[in-house]
Order: sequence, then C-alpha cells, then structure tokens
Amino acid sequence: MGHLRRSEHASEPHRHYVFLAVAAAVLAILVLTLMPRAAAAGEAWKSILADGKQEFEESCVSCHGATGKGSGDYAGKLIAPPKDLTAIAVGNGGEFPFTRVFDIIAGEVEVPGHNTHQMPEFYNSLKAKDFKPGYLPAHVRVLELTHYLESIQDKPVD
Ligand code: HEC
Repeated sequence: MGHLRRSEHASEPHRHYVFLAVAAAVLAILVLTLMPRAAAAGEAWKSILADGKQEFEESCVSCHGATGKGSGDYAGKLIAPPKDLTAIAVGNGGEFPFTRVFDIIAGEVEVPGHNTHQMPEFYNSLKAKDFKPGYLPAHVRVLELTHYLESIQDKPVD
C-alpha cells in the first residue's frame, strides 16, 4: 500500500505536464484557427470602409468636401452650408448616431440639404446605380457609407 501511494504521488507532477501539454495544444489550435479568421475579418472590414470611402468620393465630396469637413466645391453655393461630417459624434455627446446617419443617407430622415432642391431625389440617385457593374445594392452602399463616416469621426476631447 505504502509503495502504491508513493507512486501515486510520484505521478502528480507528471499529470501536471500532461495537463499543460493538453492546454498548450488547445491554445495552439485556437490561435491557429482564430488567427486567419481575425485577419479575414480585418480584410472584410477594410473593404467595407474602402467601398464606403469610394462611394463618398463619388456622391458626397461635391458638397461635404474630400475630408467630409464641409469644404466641397458646392459648399459655398448651398443655402445651408454642409456641417462637418467628422464632428457628428462629438456633436452628439461622443456617440456616433449610427441609425440616424444611415437614415439621413437613405433619405428617411430629412436634413435641410438632402431633401430640398439642393439635393433632389438623393437616395434615388444612389438607388439608380443598383446592379450596375461594380455597384452593390443601395442599402449596402448606404451601410458602407455610414461605417465610413463613423470611421472618420473626430475623437471627443476629454
Ligand atoms: C448637394 C450637396 C450635398 C450632397 C451631394 C450631399 N450632402 Fe449631405 N448634407 C448637405 C447639406 C446642405 C446638409 C445639411 C447641413 C448639414 O447638416 O450638414 C447635409 C447633411 C448631411 C448629414 C447630416 C449631418 C449632421 O450633422 O446631422 C449627413 C450625415 C450627410 N449630409 C451625409 C451625406 C452623405 C453620406 C452624402 C453622400 C452620399 C451626402 N451627404 C451628400 C449637402 C449635401
């Protein structure tokens, strides 16, 4: 009996090694399987923002300016000069109002510049490009635009 108990004790550290080996293997598998996914998610994210930027350059820069700060070619000609689109979050207590911005771009919430003669049929002009080569459906482009605007927000000053 005494002998048995001693050998049980002797196997304790060994069991720790087995546990550590298993834990290390599980960790390695997790890292190896999750890393490419994280990288892929990063890629998808980059392409969403790149698409949003491209759409912004095509449809919004004329009024809101290349940086979104409201210095586009038409800015001076508008009745209501466009606000700084990079200051939306700061102007909203540091929180980017994602749904409201989406709705503004989709034409579901009226803003002075988008639903007047300055910008007739705003969403329709996005919609008109649906299914043209290289264009995603308008609601996807609106979503990408909203994510893009979110990504260019000024950081709130603490
Ligand atoms: C013909 C000029 C014009 C074009 C083109 C235009 N906008 Fe605007 N936009 C305005 C004006 C004017 C306003 C109203 C003043 C303001 O809130 O900036 C406005 C307001 C906004 C607002 C609300 C800003 C706030 O702080 O509430 C958002 C968001 C916006 N525009 C996004 C866009 C996006 C995205 C595009 C391109 C898809 C776009 N606009 C194209 C003129 C334009």
